[in-house]
Amino acid sequence: IPVDPFDLVIFGGTGDLAQRKILPALFRRFCSGQWAEGVQIIGAARTIHDRAGFQTMVAESLRTHAAAQCQDEGALRAFLDRVDYVTLDGYSNEGWDQLSDKLNQDRVRAFYFSVGPRLFGPLAERIKAHDLATPSTRIVVEKPFGHDLESARALNATLAAHFRESQIYRIDHYLGKETVQNLMAVRFGNMLFEPLWNSQYVDHIQITVAESVGIDGREEYYERAGAMRDMMQNHLMQLLCLIAMEPPAKFDPDAVRDEKSKVIRALDQVQPHHIVRGQFDGGGSGKGYSETVGNPRSTTESYVALRAHISNWRWAGTPFYLRTGKRLVARSSVINVMFKDAPHSIFGEEAGRHANVLSIRLQPNEGITLKVTIKEPGPGGMRLVDVPLDMSFAKALGSGNQDPPDAYERLVMDVIRGNQTLFMRGDEVEAAWAWTDPIIAGWHARGDVPKPYESGSTGPGDAELLMKRDGRRWQGIN
Ligand code: BG6
Repeated sequence: IPVDPFDLVIFGGTGDLAQRKILPALFRRFCSGQWAEGVQIIGAARTIHDRAGFQTMVAESLRTHAAAQCQDEGALRAFLDRVDYVTLDGYSNEGWDQLSDKLNQDRVRAFYFSVGPRLFGPLAERIKAHDLATPSTRIVVEKPFGHDLESARALNATLAAHFRESQIYRIDHYLGKETVQNLMAVRFGNMLFEPLWNSQYVDHIQITVAESVGIDGREEYYERAGAMRDMMQNHLMQLLCLIAMEPPAKFDPDAVRDEKSKVIRALDQVQPHHIVRGQFDGGGSGKGYSETVGNPRSTTESYVALRAHISNWRWAGTPFYLRTGKRLVARSSVINVMFKDAPHSIFGEEAGRHANVLSIRLQPNEGITLKVTIKEPGPGGMRLVDVPLDMSFAKALGSGNQDPPDAYERLVMDVIRGNQTLFMRGDEVEAAWAWTDPIIAGWHARGDVPKPYESGSTGPGDAELLMKRDGRRWQGIN
């Protein structure tokens, strides 16, 4: 769907996120022919660059992060023609008049705050003070949105002093992933699943976001954040919401965000014995966590697993097990909906107990597998075996080995279209912090120390125990 002409200003335009994600995503969209004439992208940062210098920097980033599209030199040059730059300081008035001169009056205008949250307030104030905000202005802010409930509230208040909620786009890039959106399509586009989607038929749900990468290059940020703030409070929480929410009446921003918000508010406080924290140690030849951050006494978790409960009519009594960690055996994000056993086996106890499992693979090898029970072939008795009904999205859609579009492609274009459905609302973020804060406060109060786990493993043994105590076990990470 083509989008209207727009001016997009990227504060922090020379930074890592802009160069690695935002600009490559914009370039890919440009190459897809989605843009009308008259699109302008303006990098803004304190680094002193002229336009040509910034264009050279962008070209280098694109060659690394959008290599396939860069094969077309003509497209690259045409894109760079739309890229401009201003040297600008968020804390002073330097550069703002030049920025103002570059902006067009009659276009969608978006300001992307690809900077630390400390700058949100000063930037918002200066956009207003220099009269750069038009009725069609949108601002985009990145996670982490605050460090806790108090700071998130303060950030929301700062932004609300200058912009309406309908102008604020809070990014959680998981919502831009094709397969995460597919969760909604699978749930609400099929008659098959929804009638079974409740505590009567579902024994429990597992949400795993395993990463094989460590935290190299982000030591300072990560040491303050840990897995709970970096992943659980946002990405896993969003997945939980999409899996557990009631069907919204429409796929529109407030309908979807109202339902997600209700899930977060219905979460019980997690009991201390239902949480496992871990920290990777060296294993093999790699560096352990504490060595990586240069703090032998670090108590920051690089892994967390927990059991959550949603106290509402649909989910009472069905636990949700969530886990995420760095330096695990594989990169694998999967949601497993574990159905209950059939109430009675007509084949007798010797046929064994078999339960259906719906696995939604978010990345890699995106797709869905439904484990079903059939008769074991052969002339013997009535023995049962489980087999997968397997569907890979790439094969089913004939897209071969092509990777799904990057989350930022979808999200940045939604900003321009003015569609907030896949962005977090202020109250939603605050509710997620309200659930997270007591967990972290409890760790501090108890002097909790994360359990070591070996790099390249599936996480600390205690995470297995968390399940075993309930007579369950994690599905494999692969
Ligand atoms: C980011 C976290 O938000 O998400 C990172 O800060 C994490 O720690 C990343 O590695 C994971 O994103 P993806 O898209 O690679 O699953």
